Amino acid sequence: MAAKKKAAKKKKPAFRFKPIPRGAKPASSKQLRDGCPRKLLDPIEIASRDEIVALQTKRLKWTLAHAYRNVPLYRRKFDAAGVHPSDFKRLEDIAKFPFTTKADLRDAYPFGMFAVPREDCVRVHASSGTTGKPTVVGYTRRDIDDWAKLVARSIRAAGGLPGDLLHVAYGYGLFTGGLGAHYGGEKLGCTVIPMSGGQTEKQVQLILDFKPQLIMVTPSYMLAIADEFERQGHDPRDSSLLVGIHGAEPWTDQMRKEIEARFGMDAVDIYGLSEVMGPGVANECVETKDGPTIWEDHFLPEIVDPVTTVPLADGQRGELVFTTLAKEALPVIRYRTRDLTELLPGTARSMRRMGRIAGRSDDMMIVRGVNVFPTQIEELILKQPVLSPHYALELRREGRLDTLDILVEPKPERAGDAAVLDAAAAALVQAVKAYIGVTAGVKIAQVGQVARSIGKAKRVFDLRPKD
Ligand code: DLL
Repeated sequence: MAAKKKAAKKKKPAFRFKPIPRGAKPASSKQLRDGCPRKLLDPIEIASRDEIVALQTKRLKWTLAHAYRNVPLYRRKFDAAGVHPSDFKRLEDIAKFPFTTKADLRDAYPFGMFAVPREDCVRVHASSGTTGKPTVVGYTRRDIDDWAKLVARSIRAAGGLPGDLLHVAYGYGLFTGGLGAHYGGEKLGCTVIPMSGGQTEKQVQLILDFKPQLIMVTPSYMLAIADEFERQGHDPRDSSLLVGIHGAEPWTDQMRKEIEARFGMDAVDIYGLSEVMGPGVANECVETKDGPTIWEDHFLPEIVDPVTTVPLADGQRGELVFTTLAKEALPVIRYRTRDLTELLPGTARSMRRMGRIAGRSDDMMIVRGVNVFPTQIEELILKQPVLSPHYALELRREGRLDTLDILVEPKPERAGDAAVLDAAAAALVQAVKAYIGVTAGVKIAQVGQVARSIGKAKRVFDLRPKD
């Protein structure tokens, strides 16, 4: 610990991967930095593209037949579109099949889209659903095992190793985050601490006492934990944490740098959604940190134009669509995620990556005709060194015009610096105008005024009258 402290003081931020020797564990810290040793990977992670495509094609044939045979909704939709599973010969043929949406799952509430008898499901999860009924997803024993393997693979890609202590601060319960991370950690051979979200003081106490190497938590709650460390008089950089695996909400590279600097650790992106599986559909590799690698042996990704639904080429930004390749209880065919991103070639693995999610099409604000995502504003806030990542966006209507206010807290140590903060607010107004094209108001909040989330952060408060 003393050596670590010294390294952190000398060079800030100091990634703890570098100074900490990992002793007798299967890989040294140097090997991990250079990439996970190939012998620890699943062979398919480094297979050729041809091998991956062959596996996807074989699995997709099975999935289409399974869905058509066992889910009345798929049979109806395929018949209405004039397609049959036997029309699928090559991956490109997937474009002939109809899309699935969240509304389909809602209409089939609770178990109508299960492709196996309910008795064969060993677990259900459900999305919170701010309005109306939640969407319910089910898993057979094999589905749970596949999910655990993919989360284990994700944790390993992030730099985790068997024997590591893993602190899970994603919520346990109907949300897939907690239990998804938990089973994956156990599968990899970690010692899992099922802390769940909330009780922030206790989160800090357990991190200090148990000394985990790994933490899985939303990026916004990771920052709340950092604040609590400081409130209790501890420097988060002195903690044992080496890697944070963050997702479940959009975040930016600026936010990554903030988390890495505050904890002196690596922070990587994990992506997933309950309808497709849960966390671990894709995960960033620690050695490249260039966007999550999609576990393509289990999920076929597509990007489509969100308006016309025409398929787009790799590299083009649009809506991410997934087809599951091996799920028994809830196969999903061309599920429209509403997440906007692009597909990128593989780097650390042969499977393709996805770019950082700019936002969900549902989160997009339209301010005086300009499309704005919270992440675009987050990026600009964090370019101001005196401002913190605690922010909220308020939309109001004045007369017939929409207004956008950015409520942002200063860094606590700069809270008394009125002149500096005024200058930062003015610079932020200018940057938002220049880079996004909207006029926004900036209000500097009191430290602690912006509500902290214990899970997914709520960034946008739409205070406009409902028409
Ligand atoms: O959030 C699953 C999950 C848990 C992922 C823990 C990662 C870690 P849902 O509640 O169904 O599932 O929400 C899925 O969250 O469609 C995205 O809009 C968003 N999301 C998830 N991961 C990321 C990420 C879980 N890494 C929805 N970046 C998805 C941006 C993300 N958005």
